Amino acid sequence: MVKISPSILISDFLTLKDSIKELEAAGVDMLHLDVMDGIFVPNISFGNPVIKSIKAHSNLPLDVHLMIDRPHRYIEEFAKYADLLGFHYEAGSDNVELLKKIRELGCKSCITIKPATPAEAIFDLLPLCDMVLVMSVEPGFGGQKFMPMALDKIKALKEESIRQGLNIDIEVDGGINAETAPQAIAAGANVLVAGNFLFSADDMGAKVKEIKAL
Ligand code: DX5
Ligand code: ZN
Repeated sequence: MVKISPSILISDFLTLKDSIKELEAAGVDMLHLDVMDGIFVPNISFGNPVIKSIKAHSNLPLDVHLMIDRPHRYIEEFAKYADLLGFHYEAGSDNVELLKKIRELGCKSCITIKPATPAEAIFDLLPLCDMVLVMSVEPGFGGQKFMPMALDKIKALKEESIRQGLNIDIEVDGGINAETAPQAIAAGANVLVAGNFLFSADDMGAKVKEIKAL
Protein backbone atom coordinates (compact mmCIF):
# COMPACT_ATOMS: atom_id res chain seq x y z
CA MET A 1 0.00 0.00 0.00
CA VAL A 2 1.14 3.51 -0.73
CA LYS A 3 2.75 5.45 2.12
CA ILE A 4 2.00 9.10 2.82
CA SER A 5 4.70 11.48 4.01
CA PRO A 6 3.13 14.90 4.69
CA SER A 7 5.43 17.89 4.18
CA ILE A 8 5.00 20.41 6.98
CA LEU A 9 6.71 23.18 5.01
CA ILE A 10 3.58 25.30 4.59
CA SER A 11 2.07 24.49 7.99
CA ASP A 12 1.39 27.04 10.71
CA PHE A 13 4.36 26.26 12.95
CA LEU A 14 2.64 27.58 16.05
CA THR A 15 -0.12 25.00 15.70
CA LEU A 16 2.05 22.29 14.21
CA LYS A 17 1.66 19.99 17.21
CA ASP A 18 -2.11 19.82 16.60
CA SER A 19 -1.58 19.24 12.89
CA ILE A 20 0.78 16.37 13.62
CA LYS A 21 -1.76 14.76 15.97
CA GLU A 22 -4.39 15.11 13.24
CA LEU A 23 -2.07 13.49 10.69
CA GLU A 24 -1.20 10.67 13.10
CA ALA A 25 -4.89 9.98 13.66
CA ALA A 26 -5.45 9.95 9.91
CA GLY A 27 -2.87 7.17 9.54
CA VAL A 28 0.02 8.87 7.76
CA ASP A 29 3.20 6.81 7.62
CA MET A 30 5.90 9.40 8.33
CA LEU A 31 6.55 13.13 8.36
CA HIS A 32 8.48 14.82 5.55
CA LEU A 33 10.76 17.57 6.86
CA ASP A 34 12.20 19.96 4.26
CA VAL A 35 15.49 21.51 5.36
CA MET A 36 16.59 24.43 3.15
CA ASP A 37 19.75 26.51 3.49
CA GLY A 38 19.17 29.41 1.09
CA ILE A 39 22.18 28.26 -0.98
CA PHE A 40 21.29 24.93 -2.55
CA VAL A 41 17.75 26.25 -2.98
CA PRO A 42 16.51 29.87 -2.96
CA ASN A 43 14.63 29.53 0.31
CA ILE A 44 15.37 28.99 4.00
CA SER A 45 13.15 26.76 6.13
CA PHE A 46 14.17 25.18 9.42
CA GLY A 47 16.93 23.06 10.87
CA ASN A 48 17.66 20.50 13.55
CA PRO A 49 16.25 22.37 16.59
CA VAL A 50 12.79 22.20 15.01
CA ILE A 51 13.28 18.56 14.00
CA LYS A 52 14.35 17.75 17.56
CA SER A 53 11.12 19.26 18.90
CA ILE A 54 9.00 17.32 16.42
CA LYS A 55 10.77 14.10 17.39
CA ALA A 56 9.87 14.72 21.03
CA HIS A 57 6.17 15.01 20.18
CA SER A 58 5.60 12.28 17.62
CA ASN A 59 6.42 8.63 17.15
CA LEU A 60 6.07 8.88 13.39
CA PRO A 61 9.27 8.16 11.46
CA LEU A 62 10.94 11.38 10.35
CA ASP A 63 11.72 11.59 6.64
CA VAL A 64 14.30 14.38 6.45
CA HIS A 65 14.83 15.93 3.00
CA LEU A 66 18.03 17.95 3.06
CA MET A 67 18.13 20.70 0.46
CA ILE A 68 21.49 22.01 1.62
CA ASP A 69 24.87 22.54 0.00
CA ARG A 70 27.56 19.93 0.82
CA PRO A 71 25.29 17.97 3.19
CA HIS A 72 28.13 15.82 4.57
CA ARG A 73 29.05 18.79 6.78
CA TYR A 74 25.90 18.31 8.89
CA ILE A 75 25.04 14.64 8.45
CA GLU A 76 25.92 13.52 12.01
CA GLU A 77 23.74 16.29 13.38
CA PHE A 78 20.67 15.39 11.29
CA ALA A 79 21.15 11.66 11.88
CA LYS A 80 20.37 12.24 15.57
CA TYR A 81 16.64 12.62 14.93
CA ALA A 82 16.02 11.43 11.36
CA ASP A 83 14.78 7.93 10.60
CA LEU A 84 15.14 8.36 6.86
CA LEU A 85 17.84 10.78 5.81
CA GLY A 86 17.99 12.05 2.25
CA PHE A 87 20.18 14.52 0.42
CA HIS A 88 20.57 15.76 -3.14
CA TYR A 89 22.70 14.07 -5.77
CA GLU A 90 23.59 17.57 -7.02
CA ALA A 91 24.59 19.05 -3.65
CA GLY A 92 28.37 18.60 -3.88
CA SER A 93 29.12 15.78 -1.44
CA ASP A 94 30.74 12.43 -2.23
CA ASN A 95 27.46 10.61 -2.80
CA VAL A 96 28.80 7.08 -2.28
CA GLU A 97 30.52 8.00 0.98
CA LEU A 98 27.53 9.91 2.25
CA LEU A 99 25.01 7.14 1.55
CA LYS A 100 27.27 4.68 3.40
CA LYS A 101 27.71 7.12 6.28
CA ILE A 102 23.96 7.59 6.69
CA ARG A 103 23.50 3.85 7.11
CA GLU A 104 26.45 3.67 9.51
CA LEU A 105 24.77 6.35 11.58
CA GLY A 106 21.68 4.12 11.88
CA CYS A 107 19.35 5.88 9.45
CA LYS A 108 17.74 4.71 6.27
CA SER A 109 19.46 6.30 3.29
CA CYS A 110 17.89 8.27 0.47
CA ILE A 111 19.28 10.11 -2.54
CA THR A 112 17.21 12.77 -4.28
CA ILE A 113 17.28 14.04 -7.85
CA LYS A 114 16.15 17.43 -9.14
CA PRO A 115 14.00 17.65 -12.29
CA ALA A 116 17.03 18.20 -14.54
CA THR A 117 18.92 15.13 -13.30
CA PRO A 118 18.23 11.93 -15.23
CA ALA A 119 17.23 8.76 -13.39
CA GLU A 120 20.26 6.98 -14.89
CA ALA A 121 22.59 9.23 -12.89
CA ILE A 122 21.78 7.29 -9.70
CA PHE A 123 21.49 3.73 -11.08
CA ASP A 124 24.93 2.82 -9.67
CA LEU A 125 23.98 4.18 -6.26
CA LEU A 126 20.80 2.12 -5.83
CA PRO A 127 22.42 -0.68 -3.78
CA LEU A 128 23.33 1.95 -1.17
CA CYS A 129 19.82 3.41 -0.98
CA ASP A 130 16.81 2.41 1.10
CA MET A 131 14.76 4.97 -0.78
CA VAL A 132 15.17 7.29 -3.76
CA LEU A 133 13.32 10.59 -4.04
CA VAL A 134 12.27 11.96 -7.41
CA MET A 135 11.46 15.67 -7.33
CA SER A 136 8.39 16.53 -9.38
CA VAL A 137 8.93 20.28 -8.85
CA GLU A 138 12.06 22.43 -8.59
CA PRO A 139 13.02 22.14 -4.92
CA GLY A 140 12.58 25.23 -2.78
CA PHE A 141 8.87 25.89 -2.37
CA GLY A 142 5.63 24.11 -1.59
CA GLY A 143 2.48 24.58 -3.63
CA GLN A 144 4.01 24.19 -7.10
CA LYS A 145 2.57 22.32 -10.06
CA PHE A 146 3.50 18.66 -10.63
CA MET A 147 5.93 18.13 -13.53
CA PRO A 148 4.80 15.03 -15.51
CA MET A 149 8.38 14.38 -16.65
CA ALA A 150 8.95 12.90 -13.18
CA LEU A 151 6.79 9.93 -14.16
CA ASP A 152 9.28 8.47 -16.67
CA LYS A 153 12.05 8.84 -14.10
CA ILE A 154 10.00 7.00 -11.47
CA LYS A 155 9.31 4.24 -13.98
CA ALA A 156 12.99 3.96 -14.95
CA LEU A 157 14.06 3.76 -11.29
CA LYS A 158 11.43 1.18 -10.50
CA GLU A 159 12.51 -0.99 -13.44
CA GLU A 160 16.19 -0.62 -12.64
CA SER A 161 15.72 -1.47 -8.96
CA ILE A 162 13.85 -4.64 -9.97
CA ARG A 163 16.59 -5.45 -12.50
CA GLN A 164 19.19 -5.13 -9.73
CA GLY A 165 17.08 -7.29 -7.40
CA LEU A 166 16.63 -4.46 -4.91
CA ASN A 167 13.59 -3.56 -2.85
CA ILE A 168 13.82 0.22 -2.71
CA ASP A 169 11.11 2.69 -1.81
CA ILE A 170 10.45 5.28 -4.50
CA GLU A 171 9.24 8.60 -3.17
CA VAL A 172 7.86 11.49 -5.21
CA ASP A 173 7.81 15.06 -3.94
CA GLY A 174 6.04 18.12 -5.32
CA GLY A 175 2.55 18.89 -6.55
CA ILE A 176 0.97 15.65 -5.34
CA ASN A 177 -2.84 15.79 -5.16
CA ALA A 178 -5.80 13.54 -5.95
CA GLU A 179 -5.12 13.85 -9.69
CA THR A 180 -1.34 13.41 -9.73
CA ALA A 181 -1.07 10.76 -6.98
CA PRO A 182 -2.59 7.98 -9.13
CA GLN A 183 -0.20 8.84 -11.97
CA ALA A 184 2.80 8.63 -9.65
CA ILE A 185 1.58 5.34 -8.16
CA ALA A 186 1.00 3.87 -11.64
CA ALA A 187 4.58 4.83 -12.58
CA GLY A 188 5.94 2.94 -9.56
CA ALA A 189 6.11 5.39 -6.65
CA ASN A 190 5.11 3.97 -3.26
CA VAL A 191 5.84 6.95 -0.98
CA LEU A 192 3.99 10.19 -1.69
CA VAL A 193 4.95 13.53 -0.19
CA ALA A 194 2.03 15.92 0.11
CA GLY A 195 2.19 19.47 1.41
CA ASN A 196 -0.28 21.92 -0.02
CA PHE A 197 -2.88 19.22 -0.79
CA LEU A 198 -3.11 18.32 2.90
CA PHE A 199 -2.36 21.59 4.67
CA SER A 200 -4.75 23.71 2.59
CA ALA A 201 -7.61 21.30 3.33
CA ASP A 202 -10.25 21.87 6.01
CA ASP A 203 -10.11 18.18 6.86
CA MET A 204 -6.60 16.77 6.44
CA GLY A 205 -7.75 13.33 7.56
CA ALA A 206 -10.25 13.11 4.71
CA LYS A 207 -7.52 14.01 2.21
CA VAL A 208 -5.17 11.37 3.64
CA LYS A 209 -7.91 8.76 3.31
CA GLU A 210 -8.59 9.92 -0.26
CA ILE A 211 -4.99 9.21 -1.28
CA LYS A 212 -4.71 6.02 0.78
CA ALA A 213 -7.77 4.63 -1.01
CA LEU A 214 -6.14 5.01 -4.45
C1 DX5 B 1 9.86 21.40 -2.13
C2 DX5 B 1 9.70 20.42 -1.01
C3 DX5 B 1 8.41 19.70 -0.98
C4 DX5 B 1 7.19 20.52 -0.89
C5 DX5 B 1 5.98 19.70 -1.17
O1 DX5 B 1 11.18 21.81 -2.21
O2 DX5 B 1 10.72 19.44 -1.09
O3 DX5 B 1 8.44 18.72 0.04
O4 DX5 B 1 7.05 21.18 0.32
O5 DX5 B 1 4.88 20.52 -1.14
P1 DX5 B 1 3.67 20.40 -2.16
O6 DX5 B 1 3.04 19.06 -1.93
O7 DX5 B 1 2.81 21.54 -1.80
O8 DX5 B 1 4.25 20.50 -3.56
ZN1 ZN C 1 10.62 17.65 0.22
